[in-house]
Amino acid sequence: MTDLARCVAEAYDIALPHRGEGKVADYIPALAGVDPQHFGFALALPDGTVHTAGDADISFSIQSVSKVFTLALALRRVGSALWDSVGREPSGSAFNSIVQLESEAGIPRNPLINAGAIATTDRLIDGRSGDATIAEILDFIRARACDHAVDVDLNVAASESETGARNRSLTHFMDAFGTLRHPVETVLGVYFRQCAIAMSCRQLARAGLFLAMEGRDPLGGEQLIDAHRARRINAIMMLCGHYDNSGEFAFRVGLPGKSGVGGGILCIAPGHGSIAVWSPGLNDAGTSLVGAIALEHFAYAAGWSVF
Ligand code: DON
Repeated sequence: MTDLARCVAEAYDIALPHRGEGKVADYIPALAGVDPQHFGFALALPDGTVHTAGDADISFSIQSVSKVFTLALALRRVGSALWDSVGREPSGSAFNSIVQLESEAGIPRNPLINAGAIATTDRLIDGRSGDATIAEILDFIRARACDHAVDVDLNVAASESETGARNRSLTHFMDAFGTLRHPVETVLGVYFRQCAIAMSCRQLARAGLFLAMEGRDPLGGEQLIDAHRARRINAIMMLCGHYDNSGEFAFRVGLPGKSGVGGGILCIAPGHGSIAVWSPGLNDAGTSLVGAIALEHFAYAAGWSVF
């Protein structure tokens, strides 16, 4: 049997010399000061075991990784009607690109680019207040992470809002097409806060387990979303989770994943477990450079590539 604790340790050791490579996101000022030397790794297994290495218990800003949780919740809430608001094709463009929106009637390509995540959050709100919506997102993540201390970093959320001209542009542009159901600032108020959720690798890996287990939380036993929806979220993560770097990530790692500009990546190994890595130095597409190296080696050593 594969010694998974050893695979984690080896992947961590192989990636460690690359610490500090890449560029820390600075377009959100509150993220710019994070130490690029951080590097954490956590593997959560369905039996509750978590194997960790490095800074696995330090909280970081999950940023775009949050888009996976809001996608799951929006699908649970409005079902297939979500696909009236957002597509499921890779964009091949940067995470914050606006170009396709114009020729595609304000319908974003997929739920993992910024425009698509904002459209997904709009559907998740479903007539409620922004506060009620972020409370649902937090409750869901806290229960999965087995830690009720997980919270929004309000300093990061404020920083995102203050420098959020690009996201405001995307949202107003969609609004101009009539595709949003709620006021722009209500939607962005939730979006900025969901991106500013702070979690550790250990918490994030646990929180992703339901996607590895066909929508069922193996720790509590609850069926959180339908199995076919979990499989489809994984498909979208595989094809769109790293924007214009998704092909390269699939080529190297072979697992569904979602990156965030805070330097976190959540990776799902269907049927096996959930992996979270964090190191703030990013490649050009906003994916953790060290995190991707570690995941590439881990997936290979564990034999978990889906291909
Ligand atoms: O909306 C933004 O630009 C950020 N809150 C999230 C972007 C992000 O994490 C892109 N992913 N790698």
